[in-house]
Amino acid sequence: MEHAVVTGGAGFLGSHLVDSLLEDRYRVTVLDNYGSGRPENLSHVESSQLTVQKHDVRDTFPEFDDVDIVYHMASRASPDDFASHAVEIAMTNSLGTKHALECAREHNACALIASTSEVYGNPEEHPQSETYNGNVNIRGPRAPYDESKRFSEALAVAYGQRYSMDIRTVRIFNTYGPRMDPHDGRVIPNFLSQAIRGDDLTIYGDGSQTRSFCYVTDLIKGIRGFADASTSVASGEVINIGNTHEITIEQLAETILDNVDTDSDMTYQPLPEDDPEIRKPDITKAKQMLSWRPKVSLVEGLKNTIDEFDPDQ
Ligand SMILES: NC(=O)c1ccc[n+]([C@@H]2O[C@H](COP(=O)([O-])OP(=O)(O)OC[C@H]3O[C@@H](n4cnc5c(N)ncnc54)[C@H](O)[C@@H]3O)[C@@H](O)[C@H]2O)c1
Repeated sequence: MEHAVVTGGAGFLGSHLVDSLLEDRYRVTVLDNYGSGRPENLSHVESSQLTVQKHDVRDTFPEFDDVDIVYHMASRASPDDFASHAVEIAMTNSLGTKHALECAREHNACALIASTSEVYGNPEEHPQSETYNGNVNIRGPRAPYDESKRFSEALAVAYGQRYSMDIRTVRIFNTYGPRMDPHDGRVIPNFLSQAIRGDDLTIYGDGSQTRSFCYVTDLIKGIRGFADASTSVASGEVINIGNTHEITIEQLAETILDNVDTDSDMTYQPLPEDDPEIRKPDITKAKQMLSWRPKVSLVEGLKNTIDEFDPDQ
């Protein structure tokens, strides 16, 4: 039975990844410090093949007998945390990535590093393909996250070359679904909490900025497909995984108001500094390499999310 180590496995995406690995008969060890994750995200799991260890990836990993793959998902990802947990985030994506890579190296395992569309910053190229180098403000409020993710990728490439390791990097675009933290400040949980409570939905700026939202099951299938692809095809590669259906934030708010039974309206606040104006992945590479494409529509995904969403959780 293959052994997968999943850092950040008690978080939103990590816990769905754990479900998928257990379904495919992996033995799974989660390392998580519960900074933004929750034990409840894994409380539904009954499998004896899951071990959860409270561990901060800024510290050297525990000893394992054998490891086949390390999925490095640990990192706070909420813009609300970028200032209050700036150093923690920067070190999780630098020192934490080093520890994840060292673990993979020690066991001759594959490492799959979770990067982000934030490496593209406020993009001057649209849609963003993997060859675009990005436009990130190195001193701005998002820098501790954006720049440490860029470093994480650079370190992964360096390890791959220096130690001939099988390292794969996935640039995740905005993803939503059940188990998102209702309080973490990202736009879909914010809007859902406000709509369910009957408060007006807060739109930053005029709402014309665009985003593309991927449903979590689509994302996890993409990540697993990438991890399972043959070494000759995927080793050393970086791919975008996300949904290409681009909408404005105002359209997202309208869609949520249409799908929640609420009297809420919309209210407008100034746009935060460095908030990207446009964001949409070019997923040509994932389509060609993995025959992957997102299948769940925004309305279908939102309905599934609303069914399980509790703003008071
Ligand atoms: N959700 C998205 O839309 C999105 C988009 C782009 C990239 N990502 C990336 O995907 C990964 C997972 O994001 P998520 O949305 O599930 O966020 P999340 O906050 O729900 O999950 C992150 C998990 O990592 C854990 N963690 C954070 N720092 C840690 C540390 N130092 N040591 C151990 N555990 C630590 C948290 O406790 C949490 O369980 C992150 O790397 C994030 O940057 C997510």
